[in-house]
Amino acid sequence: MSAPKKLFIKTYGCQMNVYDSERMAEAMGAEGYVTTDVAEEADMVLLNTCHIREKAAEKVYSDLGRLRPLKLANPDLKIGVAGCVAQAEGAEILKRMPLVDLVVGPQSYHRLPAMAKAAEAGEKTVDTDFPEEDKFDHLPDRPKAAVRPTAFLTVQEGCDKFCAFCVVPYTRGAEVSRPAERIMSEARGLVEKGVREITLLGQNVNAYHGAGPDGDWTLARLVRELAKVDGLERIRYTTSHPNDMGDDLIAAHGEEPKLMPYLHLPVQSGSDRILKAMNRKHTAEDYLRLIDRIRAARPDMMMSGDFIVGFPGETDADFDATMDLIRAVNYGMAYSFKYSARPGTPAAEKAPVPAEVADARLQTLQALITEQQRATQEAMVGREVSVLFEKPGRLPGQMVGKSDYLHAAHVQTDLRPGDIAKVRITKSAPNSLAGEIVG
Ligand code: SAH
Ligand code: SF4
Ligand code: F3S
Repeated sequence: MSAPKKLFIKTYGCQMNVYDSERMAEAMGAEGYVTTDVAEEADMVLLNTCHIREKAAEKVYSDLGRLRPLKLANPDLKIGVAGCVAQAEGAEILKRMPLVDLVVGPQSYHRLPAMAKAAEAGEKTVDTDFPEEDKFDHLPDRPKAAVRPTAFLTVQEGCDKFCAFCVVPYTRGAEVSRPAERIMSEARGLVEKGVREITLLGQNVNAYHGAGPDGDWTLARLVRELAKVDGLERIRYTTSHPNDMGDDLIAAHGEEPKLMPYLHLPVQSGSDRILKAMNRKHTAEDYLRLIDRIRAARPDMMMSGDFIVGFPGETDADFDATMDLIRAVNYGMAYSFKYSARPGTPAAEKAPVPAEVADARLQTLQALITEQQRATQEAMVGREVSVLFEKPGRLPGQMVGKSDYLHAAHVQTDLRPGDIAKVRITKSAPNSLAGEIVG
């Protein structure tokens, strides 16, 4: 038998790409490829790309440029581009970067093995179709090998929201939910392999409405059914849209102990004028009232969000409204971005805010978020939290895990990856907590 071929995958962008990369590696595994962390020894390099902001998309081209010497050294090396840049730019990528052998959009990954074979035969292929059926149905079942104690599981893909700044509805297509039974059996399979925490993924995960054995299931129903799976100890989900935060999901946060008290709920802006221009279809007040209801169900809920500064037309007063909203919510964590005009989106037609103004606003906003994060983490000192251990830490005898609130926690213990224990937090460092096992 010939030596297995080696596949190097680099993943950009969101967690859904992380999940997709795993599934692509598994699909290629069935074709005799093993993954490698060393691009230099690969027979195939696959970039799983992100188109969300200009910088993310351009990074792909500079990385492709860096692969040129590898291709010169090994003319048999095959190079593939997957993900949202592949979807957005398609065959253009081959024109701009002739060293690329295949371009595969996010809904066509079941075609990857055939495209890799074509590449081996010297043929270049592009597939950016949006097939009707669930792409995951055509991928091989997940392998039986041991995995980490935490896993991602995509339950929903695509987006029908069309926020004025965003490429996702174009790169991932319309909203589609996977059938509930498939998710349940994939989850059971993961738990059998030792997974203790599953994060359900979707661009609009809380809009989930997959076919179940007794009619459509909501995300809340899916969470409640997953919570019955023995051995699955923690459930998370991301990313949610405020307008899809159903009463049943909010109630589940109060009633289902396996559902973790951390919610990523992007709002983008605190100004109603800008929210309207962004086509978000909710006001700042709607968002704040929603958080009140969530915190009424689960008082210790840690909130996370996404913000865009410098959206076209954003004034100082609009920005101040965003700062007010952040103060009102008090985020445990948040991501913030300078607006990036994306080709084909409605907002890209509008005059941009001067770069220096947007930069200054981003700095101001990030300073506030950093302070809220620091204070939230500091407030954990003295509290008892549950920690799911994931891997050994850097110090001898140390393990690193995540608290229910998703803080990294370092603990001296002989517990193993996958174990969960009560930990008393003793110290807050810039990006992690330290603590000791209780009892
Ligand atoms: N479906 C998710 C994720 C969208 S992308 C959601 O609705 O939140 C993740 C984040 O990237 C968005 O929440 C937004 O804050 C940011 N983003 C999207 N398009 C952007 C753009 N054109 N410029 C800057 N940031 C953007
Ligand atoms: Fe993009 Fe808006 Fe859809 Fe999120 S909800 S993916 S920001 S269009
Ligand atoms: Fe990026 Fe596509 Fe995810 S644009 S954020 S990889 S859905």
